[in-house]
Amino acid sequence: MTAIGIIGCGKIAERHILAYRKLPVRIIIADASPDVARSLADQYRVEYRENPEDILADTEITATDICVPTACHREMIIRSLAGGKHCFCEKPLCGTLREAKEIREAAARSDRVLMVGFLQRFHPAFRVVKEALDSGAIGTPYLSLFRVGGRGNAATWKHQRATSGGVVLELLVHKLDQIVWFFGPPERVDVLVGETLRPIRTVHGQTISADAEDLVVLDMQARGTRVICEADFITPSYMDHMEIQGENGSIFSSLLHFMPTIIHCNERRGIYNQGSNFQNFPMVNLFELELAHFLQVIESKVQNTNSLQDSIYVTEIIERIWDSLNRFGPPGGQRWDAGRTAIDSADTRQPERGGDHRDYRGFEIGQPSGGPLLPEV
Ligand SMILES: NC(=O)c1ccc[n+]([C@@H]2O[C@H](COP(=O)([O-])OP(=O)(O)OC[C@H]3O[C@@H](n4cnc5c(N)ncnc54)[C@H](O)[C@@H]3O)[C@@H](O)[C@H]2O)c1
Repeated sequence: MTAIGIIGCGKIAERHILAYRKLPVRIIIADASPDVARSLADQYRVEYRENPEDILADTEITATDICVPTACHREMIIRSLAGGKHCFCEKPLCGTLREAKEIREAAARSDRVLMVGFLQRFHPAFRVVKEALDSGAIGTPYLSLFRVGGRGNAATWKHQRATSGGVVLELLVHKLDQIVWFFGPPERVDVLVGETLRPIRTVHGQTISADAEDLVVLDMQARGTRVICEADFITPSYMDHMEIQGENGSIFSSLLHFMPTIIHCNERRGIYNQGSNFQNFPMVNLFELELAHFLQVIESKVQNTNSLQDSIYVTEIIERIWDSLNRFGPPGGQRWDAGRTAIDSADTRQPERGGDHRDYRGFEIGQPSGGPLLPEV
């Protein structure tokens, strides 16, 4: 039986424990705070260790499941792999390309599995969308809109830049992974909006001053498809939906069980009739699906659908967002509007400071300023 060591015992670890309890695994948990681990272990009757080091050092534990804040992912992944353990890491892989590079080097030195927890890939609605796109049901896609909104009200670290908080790493990344999955890595990424719209907010019953971005809008080009993507931390009721327009029709879909998935075809194609093909999907436990997949990958039964390379593509996009926000907003500032206007790519003028709307020179992947930041592996 595979022994899984969960490191970090917060909100998401609890969901993982519940999922693993339906799978044939031994569960051991640990947290930087031993009291937190002990209390969760008592609640779910699983083993715990006083210190995460005890999990990393235990050779009977063959895999780790990293549920710590994103700022700690890099270290935990690298140490897990170096210790000969398979590693599942919650999304996102990490917050910067430099960290991604170190993780990639560690993965290359190891023969263990590394899977990143982009769980939306396991949603049946999104699988139908992926199959419809790949089978050409709507023809060549040319415009897509993605939106995700929530509150991130489980922990205060999710709202501070210093602790890798903000809507980019917490929510936007889900959509970025989806975009990479559907269309491949974007060739161009422009940040249209990146700001902190509501700096004072209540999180976990505590009123805090947030400095991480809570509203981001991107304009991207990926394999001929124009992609507009919005993510925010200011939507009281979680929201998620997408539209994809193609030469033979449209797709609408959502993670939310009360929203339909519609494949609309101008002309009948494959399994899809002419007109709107509606499908509804019941609520599914994505944690169970992704962690079952992790175990199957460890047992070499299936290929890892959440590859490291795709997460590196996501990190490349994140890096471009940081670059834009850093260049056009004061450190710790609350507002970075990056209205994309026509600055010649050879133009090296510094953007004007002080205004709310700042010029942003978009990156063109393949151009010297924005070529792939890491070569493919
Ligand atoms: N898949 C999803 O949809 C989803 C949803 C929420 C969060 N997440 C991700 O899961 C990760 C954890 O988020 P969360 O909401 O559970 O956070 P959380 O704050 O609720 O829990 C984090 C836990 O990690 C512990 N911790 C912090 N540093 C540690 C260290 N160095 N070693 C051991 N323990 C440490 C903290 O004490 C805390 O108990 C984040 O990367 C987040 O982005 C994923």
